Amino acid sequence: MPISDILARPVESAPTPAESTVLTTNHLSVWYGASPALKDITIDIPRNRITALIGPSGCGKSTLLRSFNRMNDLIPGARMEGQITFDGQDIAAPEVDPVALRRRIGMVFQKPNPFPKSIYQNVAWGARINGYKGDMDDLVERSLRRAALWDEVKSKLNRSGLELSGGQQQRLCIARTLAVEPEVILMDEPCSALDPISTARVEDLMDDLKADYSIVIVTHNMQQARRVSDMTACMMLDDLSNGNGHRTGIVAEFSPTDRLFTNPKDPRTEAYITGRIG
Ligand SMILES: Nc1ncnc2c1ncn2[C@@H]1O[C@H](COP(=O)(O)OP(=O)(O)OP(=O)(O)O)[C@@H](O)[C@H]1O
Ligand SMILES: [Mg+2]
Repeated sequence: MPISDILARPVESAPTPAESTVLTTNHLSVWYGASPALKDITIDIPRNRITALIGPSGCGKSTLLRSFNRMNDLIPGARMEGQITFDGQDIAAPEVDPVALRRRIGMVFQKPNPFPKSIYQNVAWGARINGYKGDMDDLVERSLRRAALWDEVKSKLNRSGLELSGGQQQRLCIARTLAVEPEVILMDEPCSALDPISTARVEDLMDDLKADYSIVIVTHNMQQARRVSDMTACMMLDDLSNGNGHRTGIVAEFSPTDRLFTNPKDPRTEAYITGRIG
């Protein structure tokens, strides 16, 4: 073969390194008192990607999200079996401080919940109670810029966070989470209280943030899961075989988002995404 042909052949691309995992669940089950809420969940959450949790109401999406940073510890009667690891470490190990864990795995809630304090104080608060020693003005500006809010608030940092619009308040809550410098951001339906323009801004922001953070988002909006996420877990309610009628959440399918929506492997996923369940 002439050398010119050899040179013209496409260079084989380097093998993609195995995707790194930030959080894993291994046969995770969660109960509230005697009621099972999640059963036998085994999934790997990839680092620097957006993972969506979808599924009908009550299937345990929020429960799973709260398990990742041990927020379920705060609910009386909640208990888990199985294992969750974060960066390879068992999060239930005795040496793990749940408060420190929640700094590294931050949470943004459905309803924007700024403190009744100034915009500045909202962002500075978490960092301050964590003993942040650096330049606070700089941290506040960086966090607000990263949350795509700086230009809208830079001239009124001393005004109350509650004076902002809903979409701005949600970005303020994201800035507050970023100021603590987490590695993972958990978002529980972060756009469900927002109008479409604010939703688009938060979605753009998430896309921007995944270079530096791993994000897990619960959403009821399947279009949103398709737009923003790399991986999707489709959760379902299953009947427990113990005969006492409890319904419990399981992961029916966990796949790359494109594949889950175009070629679902599990008939329950297909039924859910086509609107026949839930
Ligand atoms: N604090 C709690 N105490 C007792 N049971 C709870 C608690 N939180 C959730 N549950 C129960 O656990 C199950 C899963 O609830 P969860 O809120 O995780 O579902 P979800 O998928 O997030 O639902 P939704 O889509 O409506 O937000 C439900 O049966 C719910 O009633
Ligand atoms: Mg929920």
